[in-house]
Amino acid sequence: MNLREAQQLLDEARAEAAAAGDRAETTAEVAELYKRFLGKGSPAARVKEAIKNLDAADRPGAGAAIKTYSEAVGKLLSERDAALRGETSAEVGDRLDLTVGGHAHGRGHLHLVTQVQRELEDIFAGLGYQVAEGPEVEDDWHNFEALNIPPAHPARSMQDTLYVNLGATEQVMLRTHTSPVQIRTMETNDPPIYIVAPGRTYRNETPGPRNSPVFHQLECLAVDRNLTLADLFGTIEVFVKRLFDDESIRTRFRSDFFPYTEPSAELAVSCIFCHGVGCRVCSQSGWIELGGCGMVDPNVFEAIGYDPEEWQGFAFGFGLERIAMIRYGIDEIRTFFDDDVRFLAQY
Ligand code: DAH
Repeated sequence: MNLREAQQLLDEARAEAAAAGDRAETTAEVAELYKRFLGKGSPAARVKEAIKNLDAADRPGAGAAIKTYSEAVGKLLSERDAALRGETSAEVGDRLDLTVGGHAHGRGHLHLVTQVQRELEDIFAGLGYQVAEGPEVEDDWHNFEALNIPPAHPARSMQDTLYVNLGATEQVMLRTHTSPVQIRTMETNDPPIYIVAPGRTYRNETPGPRNSPVFHQLECLAVDRNLTLADLFGTIEVFVKRLFDDESIRTRFRSDFFPYTEPSAELAVSCIFCHGVGCRVCSQSGWIELGGCGMVDPNVFEAIGYDPEEWQGFAFGFGLERIAMIRYGIDEIRTFFDDDVRFLAQY
C-alpha cells in the first residue's frame, strides 16, 4: 500500500460509513458500525498497520489521514447514535456518561483549635459556667486600665501590643489576651458570675515555628460571695483531669504576678506523657506550664463598681494551641495557621 492507496481506502470507507450510518435504525447497529469502521480490522486499522512499510516521507501524511478519517467517522456515528436516542446533536456533549469516574468530595471537619475550644466549653458548662464573648478589637480601658494595668505600668511591655489608629485621636488595639472579657462581663452583669471566654488574641510577634501573632486563649472568671483560693485550685483540678481524661494528673501552683489578680500563680500540670518522670514533651521537668491564675484584685472590682468587701473572685487564662500541642505532641504552633489540610485532617 502506498500513500495514495491509503488515502483512497479511507475516503471510500468514510463515504460508506456515512451511508451505512444513515441506514442504521437502532443504536445496536450503530455500535456494529463503530466496530466495522473504527475497530480491529477496520480500514483505519489496516492503514495504521501499513504505515511502517511506507516511505518515511509518506508516514506523517498517512497518520494525518487516519486522524481525519477517525474523527469524521466517529462524529457521524455518534450523531446518528444521538439521533436514534432522540437527542439533538447539541445535547450529545451533556449526555450522562455512567462510565466516567466520579469526584470524591472529602468531608470537612472542625479545626483542631475549635475542637479543643468546644471541649473546654463543654467541661465548663458541666460545672455551671456560661460562655461569654468580647470584641477582638479592644480599647485601652478594657485591655489594660480596668485590669489594674495603668499607662506606663511595666506589665504593658510584657505583651507587645498591636495598635490600630482610628483617626488622630482614637486609638484601639487588638486584644492581647482574653482578660478584657472579664471586664466587659462584669460591666454588664451583676454578680454572681461564672463565665469562660474563649477567643482569638493578638501580639506583635514575628511568625515562626513557635511564635504566632495570632493565637487563642480561654479565660475563666468566677465572682461570688466567699470564694477562696481553694475554690480556684479545686476548679482547675477538676477541669484539668477532665480535659486530659486522666485522674492521676496533678496540678502545681507557683507564685507569680499579674496586675489583675492578688495573689497570682502560674499554673502547671504534671506531664501527661511521663506523669512527672521527665520526658521530651516536658523538657525533662515533669511539669507543663499552662497559664496564669489568681484571686481577682480588689482594684479590678473597684474599677467596674463591685464592692470588694462583698464579692470575691478568681480568674485564670491559658492558651488553646498549647493545650492541643501538648495533647497531640505537636511541636510547632505555626501548623495551626498554615491551613494545610493534610495536617489538619489528621485530627
Ligand atoms: N492574661 C494572662 C495572659 O495573657 C493570663 C491570665 C493570668 C489570665 C492570670 C487570668 C489570670 O485571668 O488571672 O498571659
